[in-house]
Amino acid sequence: MSHRPTTVLIVGATGSIGQHAVAEALRQGYTVRALVRDQKRAARLLPENVGLVIGDLTRPETIGPAVEGIDAIVFTHGTTTSERDVRDNDYTGLANILKAMAGRRVRIALMTAIGTTRPGVAYAQWKLRSERLVRASGNPFTIVRPGWFDYNQPEQRKIVMLQGDRRQSGSPADGVIARDQIARVLIDSLRLEAADHKTLELVADHGPEQEDLTIIFSSLTPDSADSLDAAEDTVNLPTDSEPEMFRDDLAAIAAGTLKASE
Ligand SMILES: NC(=O)c1ccc[n+]([C@@H]2O[C@H](COP(=O)([O-])OP(=O)(O)OC[C@H]3O[C@@H](n4cnc5c(N)ncnc54)[C@H](OP(=O)(O)O)[C@@H]3O)[C@@H](O)[C@H]2O)c1
Repeated sequence: MSHRPTTVLIVGATGSIGQHAVAEALRQGYTVRALVRDQKRAARLLPENVGLVIGDLTRPETIGPAVEGIDAIVFTHGTTTSERDVRDNDYTGLANILKAMAGRRVRIALMTAIGTTRPGVAYAQWKLRSERLVRASGNPFTIVRPGWFDYNQPEQRKIVMLQGDRRQSGSPADGVIARDQIARVLIDSLRLEAADHKTLELVADHGPEQEDLTIIFSSLTPDSADSLDAAEDTVNLPTDSEPEMFRDDLAAIAAGTLKASE
């Protein structure tokens, strides 16, 4: 990552993490844009100095203006745990944004969830596929898989980053984290070289929050530029056996990246 981005698009800005991400990005001096479905709701929830672009992630024709001129994207959108919702919104929304970028370089921070690599969990596999598209896009990125939102005790603020996605009970026993801290990690990652090409599970221990996250990011193993999967994951989803929709998206995003580099 050669320069610090200046203009960030927050996807899911009206959501429970997105609103914190907007506030944190503004606090850190970014020009902030938000892709929102409902202008009135967004105007009520977000500060005035956020650029609102009306669009729907599931309608590619509405996305162009949101990505014009940006050099960072923070994905905080999400739906339910139904396979169809996650495939058609969480996954397809991210794919549509990457396709709209047409290979133009951008710093990415993506939020998915702890336990995303759980075998046989259909909705989680679509989140995993959205991670894979980000890794395949050739962009600098950080993928944050948070534990359970706001299940932390008030003094449980020490940020912990894990790898390998080994906590898979599907309950708060896997780890907890405050919403504002998820947003802070996502926004900090945009400017930290040490965060580039890192995938991590984000939880909190008892203790105070660290001021600088560089050391923790530096301790993580980077994802290989040649792999679709996170450095320490043990997933087994051969691309050839993946759904056609994913393989088509993968090819379209890789082609966009190749064309832009010519
Ligand atoms: N709860 C937990 O403990 C936990 C832990 C780890 C991960 N997660 C993950 O976090 C995600 C939910 O986050 P959250 O609680 O912050 O959700 P949320 O408050 O419901 O926010 C979701 C955001 O996504 C936007 N969105 C959804 N579909 C869209 C579309 N088609 N086009 C444009 N925007 C769209 C929503 O926009 P509107 O305002 O227009 O609806 C909203 O801004 C889920 O994917 C979940 O798996 C949750």
